[in-house]
Amino acid sequence: MTRAKLIAGNWKMNGSLAANEALVQALRAGLQEAGGAGDCAVALAVPAPYLAQLQSLVAGSDIRLGAQDVSRHEGGAYTGEVSAAMLRDFGVRYVLVGHSERRQYHGESDDDVAAKAQRALAAGITPVVCVGETLAEREAGQTEDVVRRQLAAVIRANGPCISEIVVAYEPVWAIGTGRTATPEQARQVHGVLRAQLAAATAQAQRVPILYGGSMNAANAAQLLAQPDIDGGLVGGASLKAADFLQIIAAAR
Ligand code: G3P
Repeated sequence: MTRAKLIAGNWKMNGSLAANEALVQALRAGLQEAGGAGDCAVALAVPAPYLAQLQSLVAGSDIRLGAQDVSRHEGGAYTGEVSAAMLRDFGVRYVLVGHSERRQYHGESDDDVAAKAQRALAAGITPVVCVGETLAEREAGQTEDVVRRQLAAVIRANGPCISEIVVAYEPVWAIGTGRTATPEQARQVHGVLRAQLAAATAQAQRVPILYGGSMNAANAAQLLAQPDIDGGLVGGASLKAADFLQIIAAAR
């Protein structure tokens, strides 16, 4: 089955009003010059303070708006958090949940991630559920156990809605390191995740599984050619219009 590809940029804690405008205008011009993104969906997950600006900058384009986190709570006394309803107010279509940097720096548990995914789905926002092992876990042969455990929590909490999520496999040791997983390494883990989804829902084939971790203009085509690699979650390379456009072109 060929699923439409999704290329999502994760800006992390980068950007400024001026830089954001320049980057998005360059992306829009590049996509227009290329005749659009084809059947590849394109999204940008931006820092929350820039959601209003990005909603305006992407209006009328093929670029969809994403966020990088969402509260597990519906609303109320949770200082500094952002609810799914607030994201929806800005036309957010996707939200990252369980990114390894939040699991690492903010102690987000599998249960937190599952609850965040639930909140997103309830608000009509597609959660991009991030899973991935550390180098120590890979070297200990624990990769499959780790990613299956992380995804299982989201499956348990969301039942039949699981067919509405996106999964992103991001080996932690490949994030920001320039050390990309080989196509075979990525394909193998994506196959494990696809099988786990298939055991949970008859609609498993609808769920895109993205690869993230030093995807760039040079390696994107080879990664995206692999079965069950349905797109990319791109960090550093999404901050450079030319590179991000080349990755999108590779997904067309
Ligand atoms: O969420 C995507 C990100 O973690 C990957 O970062 O810079 O390795 O593409 P990067």
